[in-house]
Amino acid sequence: MTDRNQAKESPEKKAAGIYAASLVQSGDAVGLGTGSTVAYTIKELGRRVREEELDIVGVVTSYQSEAIAIEAGVPLTTLAQTPKLTIAIDGADQFDENLFAIKGGGAAHTREKIVSMSADRFVVVSDPAKKAKTLSTFVPIEVMPFGKELVMKSLKAIGGDPVLRAAVKKDGPVITDNGNFVIDCSFGEIKNPAELAAKLSQIPGVVEHGIFMNVDEVIIGNADGSIEVIKK
Ligand code: 5RP
Repeated sequence: MTDRNQAKESPEKKAAGIYAASLVQSGDAVGLGTGSTVAYTIKELGRRVREEELDIVGVVTSYQSEAIAIEAGVPLTTLAQTPKLTIAIDGADQFDENLFAIKGGGAAHTREKIVSMSADRFVVVSDPAKKAKTLSTFVPIEVMPFGKELVMKSLKAIGGDPVLRAAVKKDGPVITDNGNFVIDCSFGEIKNPAELAAKLSQIPGVVEHGIFMNVDEVIIGNADGSIEVIKK
């Protein structure tokens, strides 16, 4: 499978991703996020499972994390079977000092939000470039195709600059793992993420937006392999 992160090795992401795997203990039910940073975590968890150091089950957030987990040898379950998770680990596109985060660069944020909200502890893994004083990157918004026009109009009305995300190697829009579209919407500097999140949730046709308010800690990896941990 090709993906947006293919062939991009990052020592920062690797340091964060592998460190996060050390937070997982035998008996844990683990939410497995999506993206190139948490891919390092999933592979490291798989290594520990294969070496019989760890006995865990994982719940994936996308076809991507499912494929990585299966190849790595992480036993998988579903939220139907295991509705309460011990820990969820995932990447982010940006986070601020209050640990508000924007996710959805890989169009997986709806399942990522469900999985992370099902966990007792939600850990984000990141490289240093994603830390921001104020959130300002575009907010990915998963929308039902039927509601696209109303959502676009509503986003403009609250000051957004919405763009329908185009697919790569497929003509037309990105289709999520849930069969929906993604609108990437810029709002400039987001001074009040909670207020914006509430407004986005009220728009009919919005399945889920990429503002996350449930991050417990962020692990930042550095190029020299060192780690910084920011806790709430
Ligand atoms: C996917 C996500 C990813 O976690 C986010 O885009 C970060 O990805 P990466 O670790 O590849 O930089 O939210 O929907």
